[in-house]
Amino acid sequence: MSQFDHIIHHPPASFVEQANVAGMDAYHALCKHAEDDYAGFWATQANRLLSWKKPFSQTLNDSRAPFFSWFEDGTLNASYNCLDRHVEQGLGDKTAIIFEADGGEVSRATYAQLLSRTCQIANAMKHLGIQKGDRVIIYISMSIEGVAAMQACARIGATHSVVFGGFSAQSLRDRIEDTGAKMIITADHQVRGGKQLPLKSIVDEALTLGGCDSIEHVLVVKRSGAEVAMQAGRDLWMTEVADGQATTCEPEWVGAEHPLFLLYTSGSTGKPKGVQHSTGGYLMHAALTTEWTFDLKPHDVFWCTADIGWVTGHTYISYGPLALGGTQIVFEGVPTFPDAGRFWKMIQDHKVSIFYTAPTAIRSLIKAAEGTAAVHPDRYDLSSLRLLGSVGEPINPAAWEWYYQHVGGARCPIVDTFWQTETGGHMITPLPGATPMVPGSCTLPFPGIQAAIVDETGKDVPNGQAGILVVKKPWPSMIRTIWGDPERYQKSYYPEDFQGKYYLAGDGAIRDAQTGYFTITGRIDDVLNVSGHRMGTMEIESALVSCTELVAEAAVVGRPDDTTGEAICAFVVLKRARPTGEEAKQIAKILRDHVGKEIGPIAKPRDIRFGDNLPKTRSGKIMRRLLRSVAKGEAITQDISTLENPAILDQLADNH
Ligand code: WTA
Repeated sequence: MSQFDHIIHHPPASFVEQANVAGMDAYHALCKHAEDDYAGFWATQANRLLSWKKPFSQTLNDSRAPFFSWFEDGTLNASYNCLDRHVEQGLGDKTAIIFEADGGEVSRATYAQLLSRTCQIANAMKHLGIQKGDRVIIYISMSIEGVAAMQACARIGATHSVVFGGFSAQSLRDRIEDTGAKMIITADHQVRGGKQLPLKSIVDEALTLGGCDSIEHVLVVKRSGAEVAMQAGRDLWMTEVADGQATTCEPEWVGAEHPLFLLYTSGSTGKPKGVQHSTGGYLMHAALTTEWTFDLKPHDVFWCTADIGWVTGHTYISYGPLALGGTQIVFEGVPTFPDAGRFWKMIQDHKVSIFYTAPTAIRSLIKAAEGTAAVHPDRYDLSSLRLLGSVGEPINPAAWEWYYQHVGGARCPIVDTFWQTETGGHMITPLPGATPMVPGSCTLPFPGIQAAIVDETGKDVPNGQAGILVVKKPWPSMIRTIWGDPERYQKSYYPEDFQGKYYLAGDGAIRDAQTGYFTITGRIDDVLNVSGHRMGTMEIESALVSCTELVAEAAVVGRPDDTTGEAICAFVVLKRARPTGEEAKQIAKILRDHVGKEIGPIAKPRDIRFGDNLPKTRSGKIMRRLLRSVAKGEAITQDISTLENPAILDQLADNH
């Protein structure tokens, strides 16, 4: 019997009736269209969903594989597609964004207002010398101004690179240097969970760390209003440079392949890589998945809880819902402030109809609701909801069922969307009015996406057998290259193992023997997923060993965690004798803070264990699979005959 046989939730008939893709026959027909005429399928979507200044004549150019181009001779502007065309169609007074601040204050921007503000910021940027092709770093928290800043970049053809507000000065510096950005758009502070956290002073610090000579200006949005240092000539208040600008700005019509943005993400080796996305193909898939996966309709109130610092916030806040003229929530705060009922209260207050969040948030809210009845979703009126979504990590069936019953009232389909920074939008996901759902499975590929599971040689594995997730054909919203490092792009995503033919996602997966449904089994490289955030183990190791006065060697692995999915576990050899007791605690704190400074608080290891050495093979290679077992606290069952120093395992197991 299949592991899934007993739990299948069918989309409710009332949902199917009104769905953008209604029923499995409709889903199969779309897949068949893509199979029969791959280019034609994507061209149809791109023509239907986007407004082109100059139409494209060639859909896919694969002559430079694996560097693919889509719609390459077409021209368009992403901001025109997200704003102007809706205003031109009479939707100027429609609410584009309902913003709720950390403290609960609500403000709104209509499409006409968002367009005006975008134009003012775009004009201010132009006035300060930003031109098509320049890079602009955005280091800001969730705000209307943040979304407008992204749109303003798109409007003038500048390539934005948003850096999540939780990254440290050092991480910010690395991204400034790698992008060669001319401008940073930031705020004085960000406000989260009742606390004021600095942004501008972190920018200042980053700019003193070297390698940032490309930066000419820092635009500062006033959020807290508290005093911050402003360097004359370099730093400018956004209100002072933008408020007096004209509220119109001719969009820069760019080629479809023009880089809309760079977004840094962790890989298995080295420093984070700047994933480069296109304008045409990316925006098309952002719009298409918003239409088909989220079933977005004119009257919906859509809420994606991600931060604009991550890809989910790019595709499903800044671009997808706006490209379709939808109304959405932008939330500044955190799910647990002032209490863990915040999400439910906001759904109730704003009559949210489509809600998209991460399993880690759901799991922590389950815990909170089980502890405190007042924050249980059953206490709120969530009847406005009609669709739920999940993203970022596997959702365990128990959390899925809770989400389904208690948040969705057993009437809302759940779309468990598998995708990545590199894929630009959804890859494997149910379509809510079509696909029968199985908790814990992201079900079937999005129409047109040729996802498959293969072995190490690239051969398809039969259903029921675990393997490596690949995508067999290029698709419009895929990563174009790694900024400044095309070789790394080719090696990471189109490796020789598959003769350079398949896109390697970096995840393991298995298809159910009967249904063919996909379940993602997790990363097959050295990338951890902590609370839905991607972290490279190597990055954390480098951060630890950069504490040169203390650390001789470090190895980082993940261990399963009920709430955060994975927890970071570091094994450290110090330059001094192995500490125990109080001293070990103190040094662990110093190291945690050090990692926080090097990368950001999200990378701080949960566990730090000290050893006289690390388990190594005779040739000196650290045996990470053993460390994974030690981290989990499980008995070592692996073959340890190649291990140079077996005694070290007991020491590391004892020591925590
Ligand atoms: C994981 C986030 C299981 C996966 C959009 C992937 C998932 C990585 C799911 C990408 C899901 C994302 N089920 N695993 N529904 N969604 N992942 O780049 O390991 O931050 O490779 O993009 O998250 O993370 P990223």
